[in-house]
This record gives sequence, structure tokens and C-alpha cells, in this order.
Amino acid sequence: MNKFGLFIATVLLLFLGIHAIRQWHASSRASVGTAKTLASDTLTPSSGGDDKTIKNDTLGDRMYVAKNFTHLLGIPGLSNQLLENHFKLYQGYVDNTNKLLELTKNMLEHGEAAKPEFCELKRRLGWEFNGMRLHELYFENLSIVPHALSQDSALMRKIEQDYGTFSAMDREVRAMAKIRGIGWIVLYYDSIAQKLMNMWIGEHNEGHPAGCTPLLVIDLWEHAYMTDYGIKRDGYMDVIMRSIAWDVVEKRFEKTSK
Ligand SMILES: [Fe+2]
Repeated sequence: MNKFGLFIATVLLLFLGIHAIRQWHASSRASVGTAKTLASDTLTPSSGGDDKTIKNDTLGDRMYVAKNFTHLLGIPGLSNQLLENHFKLYQGYVDNTNKLLELTKNMLEHGEAAKPEFCELKRRLGWEFNGMRLHELYFENLSIVPHALSQDSALMRKIEQDYGTFSAMDREVRAMAKIRGIGWIVLYYDSIAQKLMNMWIGEHNEGHPAGCTPLLVIDLWEHAYMTDYGIKRDGYMDVIMRSIAWDVVEKRFEKTSK
């Protein structure tokens, strides 16, 4: 090979080397970008680069705010450690509900609603939202100072009409607490047929009876009791049933049965 050929070969090798380095750099940036996207919960449209990364801070009034339930700390029979962990878990459902609303809103605005990702995020929303709302209903119907259900309340009359006695309804709730697996016990009011009904809700987002209003909500996921009671749900249920804020449950019934 003459000098000119050697020169051309050197230039070609240099060009290929630079191209390979650029390709590797672009690939690295894409990987880092994906990781950053997942870590920071931002959404990067497929058509754009870093400058088009959408921040999830545009929900405004549609954003849900976690409620403070620390007034329940000290409730007899449930340790503060268990409750504080439970509050953190609840906060996660609120955060994720907001994230999903934000992400799907941004995808819609950027013409990405036909993507499978949009559909799956929307599918996930029911899980996160109900995880948030069921915990709020549960914490709200607990009280450090128990509030018994008034004998002459409309809810007591309805319980006696549908179950015969309050004890019969209570017995059904405690029997349902023995159902194996994670879930919730929810006393619903079917405002269409005007009947009370205890239901077992496994996953947060599945099995809720349409047109019915949750009156009493009891968490039977393992995190709700295992820290303090291991696998003995009976002890947990004793605590819960004597800590129900029946005045709250009664108000829910009054509101939905008007
Ligand atoms: Fe829970």
C-alpha cells in the first residue's frame, strides 16, 4: 500500500471509530434517560428528546391530597409502628393516583392515547385510586374513643330490618374475617334495592357492587394486622369492632339513603 492508500485507510478508520463512539454515547444516553424517566416518574414522548421530557406537575386542582390520620396513633390494640407503616402505604396510593392521572393526561395531550401504555396506565388507575379511597374510608371509620351505634338511629333500624339484630350483622362480619387471603370487608348500602349487604372485596379494584355505597370498611390485608397479631385475625377484629366510629358510619348511611 502506497502512502496515499495508507492515508485514506487511516482517515476511514478514524471516521468509523468516531461513528462507533457516537453510537455508543447515544445508546448510553437513551438508557440513562429511560432510568431517569422511571426514577423521576416523568414521561418522555417517543417523538422527542430530553428537551421534550414532560414533568408531572400539571395536575393542578385535579391532584389528590393525602389526609392526615395521625389522630389514630395510640388507638388501643394497634401499635404506632403498625399504624405509621399503614399511613405510609396509604400515602403511596395517593401519590400513585396522582402520577397516573398526570401521566395519562400528558399522553392524551401529546396524542399518545392509542398506545398500549396509556391503556395499561388507565387500567392501573382503578387499583391505585381504590387503594387510596378504601384506606380513607377505613381510617375514617376508626376512632380512639369508640362511638357505639345509637339504638334509635336510622342505620340501627335498617340493620335490624335486614339482619334481625345488630349482633347478627356483627356475626357475619366476624365470620367473613376468616376468609383466607387478602381483602376488605365492606358493609354496603344498595340504594337501588334499599338493602344492606356485607361484601368481600379481594383486590382494591375488583368486585365492588355497582350502585352501592360503602358504609363500613375494614382492612384485612396482612399489613393491617400482622405486625401486632401475626396470623391471628380474631385479635385484630376484636380491636377493630370495638374501635368503630359508628357515628361516621351512620352519617354515611344518612347521606346515601336520603
Ligand atoms: Fe391497608
